[in-house]
Amino acid sequence: MTKPENQILVIFGASGDLTKRKLLPSLFELFDRNLLPEHFVILGVARTAFSDKEFRSVQKENLKQFLKGEKPSDERLDAFLIRVYYLGLDTDKSEEYRFLAEKVTILRELHDIPDRLLYYLAIPPQKYAIVSSALKENGLHQAQTVDGWRRIIVEKPFGSNLKTAQELNYQLCSIFAEDDIYRIDHFLGKETVQNILVLRFANQIFESLWNRNYIDSVEIYALEKLGVENRGKYYEGAGALRDMVQNHLMQLMGFVAMEAPAAFDAELMRDEVAKVFRSLHPLSPTDVVRGQYTSGQVGDQVLSAYRDEYGVAVSSSTETYVAMRFYIDNWRWGGVPFYFYTGKRMSVSRSEIVIHFKNVPHHLFNGMCTYGSCNQLILKVDSPESISLKFGLKVPGSFFEVKQVSMDFAYNSLCNTYIATAYERLLLDAMQGDSTLYTRTDALELSWRFIDPILEYWEKYPERGLTSYSAGSEGPEERKWLLQRRLSGIDTL
Ligand code: BG6
Repeated sequence: MTKPENQILVIFGASGDLTKRKLLPSLFELFDRNLLPEHFVILGVARTAFSDKEFRSVQKENLKQFLKGEKPSDERLDAFLIRVYYLGLDTDKSEEYRFLAEKVTILRELHDIPDRLLYYLAIPPQKYAIVSSALKENGLHQAQTVDGWRRIIVEKPFGSNLKTAQELNYQLCSIFAEDDIYRIDHFLGKETVQNILVLRFANQIFESLWNRNYIDSVEIYALEKLGVENRGKYYEGAGALRDMVQNHLMQLMGFVAMEAPAAFDAELMRDEVAKVFRSLHPLSPTDVVRGQYTSGQVGDQVLSAYRDEYGVAVSSSTETYVAMRFYIDNWRWGGVPFYFYTGKRMSVSRSEIVIHFKNVPHHLFNGMCTYGSCNQLILKVDSPESISLKFGLKVPGSFFEVKQVSMDFAYNSLCNTYIATAYERLLLDAMQGDSTLYTRTDALELSWRFIDPILEYWEKYPERGLTSYSAGSEGPEERKWLLQRRLSGIDTL
């Protein structure tokens, strides 16, 4: 693999959680596998006052804690950290950005790096506009040389509804070119998610069945055992629909439902995802079940209710669970229901895509599935990643009795193959200037357009239809309505 061009990565929010848990560990892994540019430095920027040395020593401890797998030696960590620098700056104050310009100039000279800066906004979203404007005011938004460039990676949440997403897009696009804005959705960096494309477009056997003639329904799950942890304050303003559906689940669905692009090219790929989003049948509130967890118990562990979590209002109506059903109005998917299920504090952690194929037209054997069919393709997105194909086979013996069996492929059976984390993959892509796995403005705005009516309805009627479920359970019973309505034939487009 060719290494990315020499560059500086500037991380805003360098003393925060994302930097220590995800960004620096991912950058270390890239360093360890010799994938970083020859001349490369990381410049952490945040308000806290640290010298370079102090920042390195704090991050060394963080790396020891957050790196997965075998822990690297101190020498190896030091060899990485020598490329890490720090600048204490009040990012709200534009006049302080001249210190950033000065530090960048020094680092460029010291490490012989052209005028290439990749910014990472690992900061609260309300700061995106402030930081990008300050970069512009200080001339840090444009390269001064022909071989230079600027790129900016923006974390989610990107807006809180269509209007705020449009405003933010407008703001960023008035400073950086669309091609240079990388809106990150870490789900797209997951190996199994990229494999949806390979599975679909490198194999005739699946692709020829991948349509309304053979597929009965598609389910996409992102269930988590964890609660909101210490993120109550953020989550209160988000809820499961914004936190998981508008971005991660929508993107997964885009990959499952898109047409094959003419070539494997970032723009063509993203055109196809946007086309799917444009074909979504408008949602109505009855298509969505929302719930909030109450206290519960798993084994000896007592789990608190969402309303008792730190940073959460005692009368909060924020949803921690969403189940929804929707349709895509196009020739490939017309009439095929898609379901999303996502929730916190569930009995299991489960992120997977389940393609349910249609049943055979006539039942010959005992034991055949009556609802759905024996055939499912299950793409497991979370670790340990796997793909399973389910089909019916004869139970040994004298009768023709059918049993569902599974053919499984586990990624970890590929010995000696390192599976990069989502952030490693996405950081490397942005360094390379490859935006295939990043969200484009149109897709982003279309995804908000899709869920906005539900958000507005819930805002107007905060309690209406808000169900509850015990922490550690399978979610609100009402989730079953979506399926039952279909079986009983009430479900119409
Ligand atoms: C984040 C959400 O984007 O994704 C979290 O904000 C969620 O609430 C997380 O827990 C899930 O990601 P992963 O990779 O752990 O499945």
